[in-house]
Amino acid sequence: MSVLITNVGELVTNQLEPDAGAGRGGPCRFAAVTRAALVIDDGRVAWTGPASRAPAADQVIDAAGRAVLPGFVDSHAHLVFAGERGAEFAARMAGQPYRAGGIRSTVAATRNADDGLLRDNLRRLAAEMRAQGTTTFECKSGYGLTVRDEERSVALAAEVTPEVTYLGAHVVPPEFERDPGGYVDLVCGAMLAACAPHARWVDVFCERGAFGRDEAQTVLVAGMAAGLEARVHANQLGPGPGVQLAVQIGAASADHCTYLDGADVDALVGSGTVATLLPGVEFSTRQPYPDARRLLDAGATVALATDCNPGSCFTSSMPFCIALAVREMHLTTQEAVWAATAGGARALRRADVGHLGAGARADLIMLDAPSHAYLAYRPGVPLVAAVWQGGERVAGSSA
Ligand code: NIG
Ligand code: FE
Repeated sequence: MSVLITNVGELVTNQLEPDAGAGRGGPCRFAAVTRAALVIDDGRVAWTGPASRAPAADQVIDAAGRAVLPGFVDSHAHLVFAGERGAEFAARMAGQPYRAGGIRSTVAATRNADDGLLRDNLRRLAAEMRAQGTTTFECKSGYGLTVRDEERSVALAAEVTPEVTYLGAHVVPPEFERDPGGYVDLVCGAMLAACAPHARWVDVFCERGAFGRDEAQTVLVAGMAAGLEARVHANQLGPGPGVQLAVQIGAASADHCTYLDGADVDALVGSGTVATLLPGVEFSTRQPYPDARRLLDAGATVALATDCNPGSCFTSSMPFCIALAVREMHLTTQEAVWAATAGGARALRRADVGHLGAGARADLIMLDAPSHAYLAYRPGVPLVAAVWQGGERVAGSSA
């Protein structure tokens, strides 16, 4: 059955790729039509254009001047865990620094949890994301750090998303404290063999206090040999080799990018590696925000994601990240919306989501607002009025 959504105040369609002839990175690839309409057929976008020229359809929905956007693509989240770290957050707000070691307390809670509890947590967070307009999300393991606990983490993640990431190399668990090399061997050996069948991606936390350049490369190369594609937690807590390693290895994404030097920016520009910025982390850790303008102005491809996790950033809200990106990182509202939709799709190497060109998956949201700018203009307000995934209404009502 075809569905026509008409009388759309602003229809954000986006382009995944820069315009031919534009400079590197292009001008902003945000694209929108006002007084628009869109037809969904068989789970796909069949047509977009001015409402005055819309074709007939089996069902008609009147958007009454509201905005329609591609669903958000959250390309970085850690949703398989037990426990919480509210006290750690409160201590940070009272002056304590964020430390990667906090991950170990979630590892202990996750190992002690049964599958049912982990599944319930995961599904609750996935539903929370969907209600806020996220229609595609990535989900990492990384709080198990044994063969059994990493395997069940990726298997549970695969129940809710195809974008599953094996992050056995999150930190060295306490039982390997004196033998980090032995842990890397495990991550690249039995643990990878158990996890690869459930995952699409391999990731590593390349950072002082986690894994160094050579260890990170070893993990990524092993994962790629097992058929996984690479993404990297890079340059989050200080300058380091992560971004350049990500580019050299051909990773889809270098995530965080909080501390970059000129060579890091140069490496990202013109590479196939997306710079994924996670401003909720800087908000929740009081670290400086990444220099997003420098990346964008140099022509790097930038994505925005939540990094939803119980330690460094416990938000599932892409609208919140858009508002932060605009206010704190000086993205235009158009750049921020592009980065949260098409940018995320690029970071996941998906051509079918993040835009509403004909043939795209009909993953879209309607805002209780006339334009995309309201996502930053009205921060903290639940503006996502309805969500469609593959053409099916999965949240809200369009009335
Ligand atoms: O992306 N950087 C490493 N991992 C997470 C933090 C996880 C945690 O603190 O539990 C991140 O920020
Ligand atoms: Fe992360």
